[in-house]
Amino acid sequence: MLYAHQNFCEISLISSSALSEAKPANAQKASGRSSGGGSDSSGGGSAGGGGRRGGRKEDSNWWTRLQKIPWDDKEFRMYFLSAAAFWTTVGYYFFFRNAAQEVTWKDFVNSYLSKGVVDRLEVINKRYVKVIFSPGKAPVSGYVWFNIGSVDTFERNLETAQVELGIEGENRLPVVYTSESDGSFLLSMLPTVLIIAFLLFTLRRGPAAGGRPGRGMGGLFSVGETTAKVLRDEIDVKFKDVAGCEEAKLEIMEFVNFLKNPKQYQDLGAKIPKGAILTGPPGTGKTLLAKATAGEANVPFITVNGSEFLEMFVGVGPARVRDLFVLARKNAPCILFIDEIDAVGRKRGRGNFGGQSEQENTLNQLLVEMDGFNTATNVVVLAGTNRPDILDPALMRPGRFDRQIYIGPPDIKGRASIFKVHLRPLKLDSSLDKGTLARKMAALTPGFSGADIANVCNEAALIAARHLSDTITQKHFEQAIERVIGGLEKKTQVLQPEEKKTVAYHEAGHAVAGWYLEHADPLLKVSIIPRGKGLGYAQYLPKEQYLYTKEQLLDRMCMTLGGRVSEEIFFSRITTGAQDDLRKVTQSAYAQIVQFGMNDKVGQVSFDLPRQGEMVLEKPYSEATARLIDSEVRQLINTAYQRTHALLSEKKAEVEKVALRLLEKEVLDKNDMVELLGQRPFAEKSTYEEFVEGTGSMDEDTSLPEGLKDWNKELEFLF
Ligand SMILES: Nc1ncnc2c1ncn2[C@@H]1O[C@H](COP(=O)(O)OP(=O)(O)OP(=O)(O)O)[C@@H](O)[C@H]1O
Ligand SMILES: [Mg+2]
Repeated sequence: MLYAHQNFCEISLISSSALSEAKPANAQKASGRSSGGGSDSSGGGSAGGGGRRGGRKEDSNWWTRLQKIPWDDKEFRMYFLSAAAFWTTVGYYFFFRNAAQEVTWKDFVNSYLSKGVVDRLEVINKRYVKVIFSPGKAPVSGYVWFNIGSVDTFERNLETAQVELGIEGENRLPVVYTSESDGSFLLSMLPTVLIIAFLLFTLRRGPAAGGRPGRGMGGLFSVGETTAKVLRDEIDVKFKDVAGCEEAKLEIMEFVNFLKNPKQYQDLGAKIPKGAILTGPPGTGKTLLAKATAGEANVPFITVNGSEFLEMFVGVGPARVRDLFVLARKNAPCILFIDEIDAVGRKRGRGNFGGQSEQENTLNQLLVEMDGFNTATNVVVLAGTNRPDILDPALMRPGRFDRQIYIGPPDIKGRASIFKVHLRPLKLDSSLDKGTLARKMAALTPGFSGADIANVCNEAALIAARHLSDTITQKHFEQAIERVIGGLEKKTQVLQPEEKKTVAYHEAGHAVAGWYLEHADPLLKVSIIPRGKGLGYAQYLPKEQYLYTKEQLLDRMCMTLGGRVSEEIFFSRITTGAQDDLRKVTQSAYAQIVQFGMNDKVGQVSFDLPRQGEMVLEKPYSEATARLIDSEVRQLINTAYQRTHALLSEKKAEVEKVALRLLEKEVLDKNDMVELLGQRPFAEKSTYEEFVEGTGSMDEDTSLPEGLKDWNKELEFLF
């Protein structure tokens, strides 16, 4: 049986704390969010252009011109609103300043009433009195007004004043009662208006925001709209930027060809597949491949993220799926890419906690939509995930995702091509040839994913910049690899001489054990400079190997145990430093017995081992088997330990030599080892040329099959 073996550039770490896998962090670039409304705003500027030409014409198409105003553009909207608010304020200010002037009762009586210039009084809302002057006699422009306590008092005061001034009968001032909106009502509404505005604002800003350009204001009602983006020619990733996964690339190109030239296939009676799912470990280029497709396919590319379907509102998920497919059909022929589909595609019926059923509904809707349109609709659905194992089987069946494209970690040729891609923008030392360097680096980085390689190239440039180097040299690349594998070098961490000695003998134990074990990986470098992930490390060059024999696995186990054995032989005491080694050995032993059926007593069986972080409620085997497995594991490790002990006891002098040299130089490479121990008794491969020997070609095969030569062009078919 073939099994995938994760041989990530094997390193053995000596560490005092529980450390995780030597897996460098992903250097994932955030994908640029395309700005919404970009296409609309382009029209805004041209609107004024034709304005000079004859008023008539201008008037007749004012509506079209109005439509061209980029209302969707956030900045425009903000400017527009602030300008409106400003002018309103200014307007109010002038209006009130000019028109009205407040006076006191006394002023009113002395300056106006006694002079006989008043025509009538208007009591407004029982609170203010507006004084209206007789025409032509107004002493001030506009009108004056004053406050009154109550209508009763006002009437009484007016009566008294008129009596005192001797205004009688006919001449008495008429008083009119009116009510007018004076803004206080609006003022009292203000808090409510503000709250509503705020709610609408947050809703728009929230999940529904950033939606499709051109949809205008949706507010609360747009949560059910899809958040997918339609990309056309705005992605600058091309297929030449994706390397090391030629097969996957071909498959995707074929999908584009399906859309462009369906006849080529339909003539032979073939149906066009509806979708493909890209699976594989993180950082192998799934999203990148999709981006490249968007960049080159010449068909609309709709992209959406699996998590965008899940929302706190019930029913939003399915509604968005529906809307997404409506959008896709409108743009057909097109490609629809759902990244990280495991967010919605999780297996159904696994406990119904809270959001679970909502997710199931979303999935059901997705299943319906993918089935619902026929092949003539010309929508191809691509999806990306790195957990295909948790996806619902119904989603994966042919008819929905017809093809499953696995993008694994790149092999040595693939890595060389990926290095070439990422070396392209770098300023290298003139003595370095990009092709040669790429091959050399590919040989040094087994198990690296595309993202790791991108990270190495970037780190090399950063290291060069740190040392104010004009160009990037090979040394910078080597440092970058070390950094990516082992973590940051800790110059300040001072080890006690005693500890340093232990680390040196530990690493020497690994190195010497590996040197004399046939199936152990060739050593590349041993170092006892403390790094982020451990106190010392030995780096090996594992072969690109997919099948291992029992003997090979045993040799690897023995080499991993070499560190602890050496400590035991030289110091008769052991330290905590071997924890990482022991974990690896235990894992390997369990895998051999439980998964690979390599033990006679347990027999030819294979059970799933729990993954890291998974909860195991029930073992798939009986208690008796469990006990047998445990004892066999212990025995296997014991055998390996004894074997290593015997080997290193025999080679004690060699271990000592290596350890002393290590203490002196801190870093040993293969040449030092040859100098100390003589040639390794087994043939080994270490260069690119040796690794790729016998695989047919020196580089990746990037040729296209006949039918895909013009994959993104529409062909003229002759009938
Ligand atoms: N095959 C490749 N060729 C060139 N560059 C690659 C390749 N694979 C990965 N990379 C680099 O790694 C980065 C991350 O890759 P990408 O986003 O495609 O990973 P992914 O497979 O989608 O991972 P995940 O499963 O975590 O989403 C890319 O931006 C690119 O720089
Ligand atoms: Mg991805």
